Amino acid sequence: MSQHTLPGKKVAVDRSLHDKVLTARRRAYVPYSHFPVGAVVVDQNGQIYSGANVENASYPLGMCAERVALFKWATESTSPPQALYVLGDTEEPISPCGACRQVMAELCSPEMPVYLGNVRGEWIETTVSALLPGAFTQRHLGSEK
Ligand code: THU
Repeated sequence: MSQHTLPGKKVAVDRSLHDKVLTARRRAYVPYSHFPVGAVVVDQNGQIYSGANVENASYPLGMCAERVALFKWATESTSPPQALYVLGDTEEPISPCGACRQVMAELCSPEMPVYLGNVRGEWIETTVSALLPGAFTQRHLGSEK
């Protein structure tokens, strides 16, 4: 299989934020993959919405950590998202799946920073649009008011 690299630059992430994502990851329910992932959305008020992946015996029903955090933000927050952090126990910083990238494109601005990391504290900073260039959006439906 061909190698895919993430767009973005290496950055240092605040220890306290790194720890918040690790803490979120502890709530993962992963009896099938044994691959816990943590995610945190920070909104413009500085409020935090955390998520972890939740799997199911009917495999496709499982939900990624990013979407749990983003859907919590969508249903609980009163201000726009400022940044998203995602972390797993991966060699390279974690790479969000295509479905999560599409949900980011729906709920976040194209320029919003996305921080992708691993448990060792290696992080890269990228953006929603760099992760999914040319995303299918409301605009394509012609339903933008
Ligand atoms: N997973 C996430 O939660 N986020 C990612 O960025 C990559 C993959 C989850 C889905 C599934 O529960 C497990 O990791 C293995 O794919």
